[in-house]
Amino acid sequence: MAKMEVKTSLLDNMIGVGDMVLLEPLNEDSFINNLKKRFDHSEVYTYIGSVVISINPYRSLPIYTPEKVEEYRNRNFYELSPHIFALSDEAYRSLRDQDKDQCILITGESGAGKTEASKLVMSYVAAVCGKGAEVNQVKEQLLQSNPVLEAFGNAKTVRNDNSSRFGKYMDIEFDFKGDPLGGVISNYLLEKSRVVKQPRGERNFHIFYQILSGASEDFLCKLKLEQDFSRYNYLGLDSAKVNGVDDAANFRTVRNAMQIVGFMDHETQSVFEVVAAVLKLGNIEFKPESRVNGLDESKIKDKNELKEICELTGIDQSVLERAFSFRTVEAKQEKVSTTLNVAQAYYARDALAKNLYSRLFSWLVTRINESIKAQTKVRKKVMGVLDIYGFEIFEDNSFEQFIINYCNEKLQQIFIELTLKEEQEEYIREGIEWTHIEYFNNAIICDLIENNQTGILAMLDEECLRPGTVTDDTFLEKLNQVCATHQHFESRMSKCSRFLNDTSLPHSCFRIQHYAGKVMYQVEGFVDKNNDLLYRDLSQAMWKANHSLIKALFPEGNPTKINLKRPPTAGSQFKASVATLMKNLQTKNPNYIRCIKPNDKKAAHIFNDALVCHQIRYLGLLENVRVRRAGYAFRQAYEPCLERYKMLCKQTWPHWRGPARAGVEVLFNELEIPEEEFSFGRSKIFIRNPRTLFKLEDLRKQRLEDLATLIEKIYRGWKCRTRFLLMKKSQIVIASWYRRYAQQKKYQKIKSSAIIVQSYIRGWKARKLLRELKHQKRCNEAATIIAAYWHGTQARRELKRLKEEARRKHAVAVIWAYWLGLKVRREYRKFFRANAGRKIYEFTLQRLMQKYFLEMKNKMPSLSPIDKNWPARPYLFLDSTHKELKRIFHLWRCKKYRDQFTDQQKLIYEEKLEASELFKDKKALYPASVGQPFQGAYLEISKNPKYKKLKDAVDEKIIIAEVVNKINRANGKATSRIFLLTKNNVLLADQKSGNIKSEVPLGDVTKVSMSSQNDGFFAVHLKEGSGAAGKGDFLLSSDHLIEMATKLYRTTLSQTKQKLNIEISDEFLVQFRQDKVCVKFIQGSQKNGNIPTCKRKNNRLLEVAVP
Ligand SMILES: Nc1ncnc2c1ncn2[C@@H]1O[C@H](COP(=O)(O)OP(=O)(O)OP(=O)(O)O)[C@@H](O)[C@H]1O
Ligand SMILES: [Mg+2]
Repeated sequence: MAKMEVKTSLLDNMIGVGDMVLLEPLNEDSFINNLKKRFDHSEVYTYIGSVVISINPYRSLPIYTPEKVEEYRNRNFYELSPHIFALSDEAYRSLRDQDKDQCILITGESGAGKTEASKLVMSYVAAVCGKGAEVNQVKEQLLQSNPVLEAFGNAKTVRNDNSSRFGKYMDIEFDFKGDPLGGVISNYLLEKSRVVKQPRGERNFHIFYQILSGASEDFLCKLKLEQDFSRYNYLGLDSAKVNGVDDAANFRTVRNAMQIVGFMDHETQSVFEVVAAVLKLGNIEFKPESRVNGLDESKIKDKNELKEICELTGIDQSVLERAFSFRTVEAKQEKVSTTLNVAQAYYARDALAKNLYSRLFSWLVTRINESIKAQTKVRKKVMGVLDIYGFEIFEDNSFEQFIINYCNEKLQQIFIELTLKEEQEEYIREGIEWTHIEYFNNAIICDLIENNQTGILAMLDEECLRPGTVTDDTFLEKLNQVCATHQHFESRMSKCSRFLNDTSLPHSCFRIQHYAGKVMYQVEGFVDKNNDLLYRDLSQAMWKANHSLIKALFPEGNPTKINLKRPPTAGSQFKASVATLMKNLQTKNPNYIRCIKPNDKKAAHIFNDALVCHQIRYLGLLENVRVRRAGYAFRQAYEPCLERYKMLCKQTWPHWRGPARAGVEVLFNELEIPEEEFSFGRSKIFIRNPRTLFKLEDLRKQRLEDLATLIEKIYRGWKCRTRFLLMKKSQIVIASWYRRYAQQKKYQKIKSSAIIVQSYIRGWKARKLLRELKHQKRCNEAATIIAAYWHGTQARRELKRLKEEARRKHAVAVIWAYWLGLKVRREYRKFFRANAGRKIYEFTLQRLMQKYFLEMKNKMPSLSPIDKNWPARPYLFLDSTHKELKRIFHLWRCKKYRDQFTDQQKLIYEEKLEASELFKDKKALYPASVGQPFQGAYLEISKNPKYKKLKDAVDEKIIIAEVVNKINRANGKATSRIFLLTKNNVLLADQKSGNIKSEVPLGDVTKVSMSSQNDGFFAVHLKEGSGAAGKGDFLLSSDHLIEMATKLYRTTLSQTKQKLNIEISDEFLVQFRQDKVCVKFIQGSQKNGNIPTCKRKNNRLLEVAVP
């Protein structure tokens, strides 16, 4: 739901009148009463058109809250009750939106609330302008520059507890969006005399008290300070404490602010060191010391303070001490040194303190500017805020007040120029009827002060520069001469002595009738202060300081840069800077805040009519209202006016093709604005009443809303239409695509249906054809079959007939043959019986044999010699043939088998055959040996190193090498021996050592005996009388008996061509030396397993038990 906007106006709930322009009747009393009434209701702000009058409430009002900021943000100036925020908002918006540089001119006397107002403006702008980390930092720095400058530049005066003792103009810079970029501060003439002396009831600058109250013990100790204010001559004691001011807390605020603004720690430290040095300078005291030549001299009373100052600032003590005692004057190449008397020494001390402090202050401003200056070079919009010291009238007014009041005169001048004069002139320019309003133009006072020839400042400068004795009195004299006739200058001694008898005007004073009242100035000190001289010895001493800040503050102390030209005087400097400021302000759109002080007591709720009346008068506020009222509240060139309101009239909206003025006329006629409410100037429209403007604004706002609705409507229509067209287009595209798709589908379907129909038809046709063809074929076949059957039937009939015929013929033939046979047989029967039987037998036999062999051919067994299969005999009469055939086949296949043998195998089989012939069916051991291959050399003599000797001894080929058991003839026990058979010998050798025991040539072996049983015992019989026979025959036993015997037999046969006698018997005799022993083989028990045992039974019998 739209938020209901409550339309407010300046006129709503008004206390008195919010805008003095609306005041009825208009006179001084009603003016003051209106202000008072509003003040009593805590309404401290009142307008005169766009000027804001602000009355210092001297209490905090709840009208500066963030909610208030929001309330005034982006609101029309006259829409809400008067407020400094409304002015700030107006200024900020016209800066941001209309690209006009602004300045906020805050004027009013001391304590009227200028500084507070300037802070309020700044904080409002900070609150409403852009946000963001960078922008916030800029804002923060701009805002935090205030406490720093206030601490060093403000002091308690009788009029204001926080009186600005310097003028300040701050340019805040913004980018095109209205975000702050940075700022530049200009300061004007600090009231430095306050450093060394304060009028009664006043204080020195805040920072001195803040540092002593707020700094830690440690920090004070470093600065060589003590907390006690009374220790310092420069601190006025009577009002060292100010009610409601917490110096200690403010010190912390200042330090914090310095940090935020960007002061480095060492910079802050240096600043406080300078402050401490200034404070301590006041404690240096001098005493007179007479010299012989009668000249007065001064001497420092207590050098302790001096020493500490020198330690703090890094100045050589003797240098500073000398600077306080002597003054060197340099003129051309000459240097003259004069001693200083006590008064001069004090003067030098104070001058140094004032200079140090004021230069420090200027340095602070420069340093702050360095931090807050805008970082970009883009074009900036500027809002200047001017907070200059207010108009001052003290009991004793000196040079400072003169300068301050001059500045205020200038500001008043610019106010007059821009509001009153300019306003009237504009009416004349624009040809608008105008009744002249009298107002006081203070240009004449400004001229009195600043005129280059006859102005007071020019006189003062002239006096200061004049050679000869120059005193304040000579200056006054000069003034008396030059300014005597000036309406606003008053002096007792002036030539036209209107004031000769005016006792209120002392001789040493002159009086100026300022726009804000008469002020009497004590002439004493004018020359000095204008000269603002610091003895060169002092500036040189300062430059020599081992302290970078102090050194930087006194650049003229550098002896290499001695400038004998006089520096510009304080007055001329100030005049120049004020002129620059004025020029600057004139380029900007001014916004005025006129501050009024309600009472002299700094108290809330007190409204002193007389005091306020005085201020109203000198501020020219009443004239201001009159001018506003006589004139018009608002004016604007025709073009922007038409541009702004042209939407309120059909003829001018959206474009007006004629001149702008005519357009505005049409517009105002159309809107029926009463004629007395506006006037047409040459280039501008003048609107008399703000209300008319509000009305226009309201109408415009309303119209803008309507237009917005219209635009919205048109836009929505356009959007919907475009959307509709798009959808329509899309729909057509989709439809066409869909149709295409559907048609494609349909076509495909039809096509496939056609194909199906076609194929069916074709099928049907084909089938029909096929059927016809088949029918035809069947007909043909049937015909053929029928024909065939018919032919068959015919043929069969024919065949039958033929067969019948043939049978008959055959029967005839058979019968014929039988008949013939019978006839023949009858005839040949006698020849047949003699030969036919034998021939039939032979033929049958031959036929059977043929059949037998052909069958055998197919039934032949395998070629393996051990295959026992043989087909059964078919006919009994072939029995012998069958056996013979079996034998021949066996022999043939054995031959075939043998033919495959190598010579080696042949030899082995020859040996095996030999063994078979020798032992088959004779020795029970034989069958077991058939399967064992004969290896001969079971012992590998050549490979065993143990038998190397044996090998060497036997150089023939070894046929058998085997371990045998030699049977001991004494007990039948066996001993292992190596049995070797070579081509010519039989050898027995020791198994362990390989030593040959016996060697028998084969020729000496007569016989070998063995049993028929399954044992390995054998005896080798030797020829009687041979060399080897000495020890008798050998009885041996071997596992390879069959092989050994066979090889022995074959070797003997091949060597001696004689067959070795092999006797197989279960009892045989063996010759042992002389005795013959019978070896008998018996069937033994199985006790010892399968091993035969040999036992000596008696002298003649050796029994071998074979298992
Ligand atoms: N708007 C305000 N609300 C509350 N108190 C205010 C306001 N304006 C001013 N004051 C009070 O008045 C005192 C003096 O105001 P301020 O310092 O602004 O005067 P000034 O015009 O700057 O004087 P000077 O010319 O001496 O510097 C402030 O310290 C504050 O106590
Ligand atoms: Mg101030």
